[in-house]
Amino acid sequence: MSLVERYADAFDGSRQRFEIAKTLFPTGVTHDARMMEPFPVYINRAKGSKKWDVDGHELIDYFVGHGSHLLGHSPEAVVAAVQEQMSQGTHPGACHDLEIEWATWVKKLFPSAERVRFTGSGTEATMMALRLARLFTGRAKFLKFHGHFHGWHDYVTISSDPPYESASVPGVPAGVADCCVAIPPNDLNRVEEALKANRDIGAVILEPTGGHWGAVPIRGEFLHGLRALCTKYDVLLIFDEVITGFRVAPGGAQQVYGVTPDLTTLAKILAGGLPGGCLVGRADILAFIEPRAGKPKMKHPGTYNANPLSASAGIATLQQIATGEPSAKANTIARYLRNGLNELFAARNSPWIAYGDFSMIRVVPNYTGPRAMVATTENDGFVPLNGDVNALDGPKNTKHMHAVRQGMLLNGVDFWGYAGLTSATHSVEDADKTIRAFAATLELMAIDGIE
Ligand SMILES: Cc1ncc(COP(=O)(O)O)c(C=O)c1O
Repeated sequence: MSLVERYADAFDGSRQRFEIAKTLFPTGVTHDARMMEPFPVYINRAKGSKKWDVDGHELIDYFVGHGSHLLGHSPEAVVAAVQEQMSQGTHPGACHDLEIEWATWVKKLFPSAERVRFTGSGTEATMMALRLARLFTGRAKFLKFHGHFHGWHDYVTISSDPPYESASVPGVPAGVADCCVAIPPNDLNRVEEALKANRDIGAVILEPTGGHWGAVPIRGEFLHGLRALCTKYDVLLIFDEVITGFRVAPGGAQQVYGVTPDLTTLAKILAGGLPGGCLVGRADILAFIEPRAGKPKMKHPGTYNANPLSASAGIATLQQIATGEPSAKANTIARYLRNGLNELFAARNSPWIAYGDFSMIRVVPNYTGPRAMVATTENDGFVPLNGDVNALDGPKNTKHMHAVRQGMLLNGVDFWGYAGLTSATHSVEDADKTIRAFAATLELMAIDGIE
């Protein structure tokens, strides 16, 4: 049996559901990242580092709710808090105590948060950040980096996926696309050139540990340089910490690297696995949400802003995040996994490499370049392929990537193609099983002639 036949055979319950789903949804799935050949896996239940599919397989999970779980799936305190709130009402359509408590936790963990505004999602938070930046600076354009993902609204879709040099995205009006200047990451000279050449840039936005959560890692030196350039050219610096916030450290990448942005977008872990986001930052910038004499006001409604269920989950989560333990645990196990995978690749002489910072793990196939020493810090200090965004985060061979997923799933692991995120509940046993699953996957792929 070929790999794909084995997968189809073992995950037949998912296959049956996908046949129905195809008649309901374009692509058959409800999120682009869930597209998978020949069909995706359907999950019933999740707890800790594991999830269970409709055919009863136990899977070690590296999607962790698209990054929204750092405490693992269904932590008891979060479940209890949401159940309690559920009985009190899901939407009073009014101000409530939990929004105050939630924002107080955010401010405590993110000292740059002079003011907080809750949104329904991370996408809404980056949309708000850019609109407020336009109001505050009076300048229409912003600078972003190739491969940096900030949600799916029109302004930020430019250059978030390959081809990164393209100045347009189908469906985005030219006038909107023209507001975005996109350049490769990690090059301060290019940043300065862009800021000099485009005096109508009012803000720079980035994923502070690198686009697509660290596919091309960004580290402190670049962040400090960027902060200095933004100050020099009087441009706002926006950290999109939707993934990194509360994950890499309780106070996100800005805490780790000691760089203070003007605005920060947060979501995912913020709301403890429920929907929700927020924009935080300088009070004088968020003041444009307030009605003030002689100043424009940015309108900001949103049915689910500071929803009490999300607030209750967020508070229960941030209370634990504040100890620093969940970030430290997730970082440590991810490093263990990266090192273990690299040992496996070296032992088998396989053309693969694992890399990544904090709780993020990336693997690159067809790799024959230099190898990192065994990493001992959360920031591995090594970037393969000279950090070239097109080499590390360019167009994917989806057939190959899906073969990896099929092989991993057959061996009890749901790995996100060439990447994964850990939670504080991932154990050494999980990581060891994942390394064995990778070895078995490479064997299965080799039988099919896939390297
Ligand atoms: C860095 C980053 N920014 C923004 C977003 C958008 O957040 P949401 O999916 O909540 O709209 C994401 C989502 O994955 C993200 O990773």
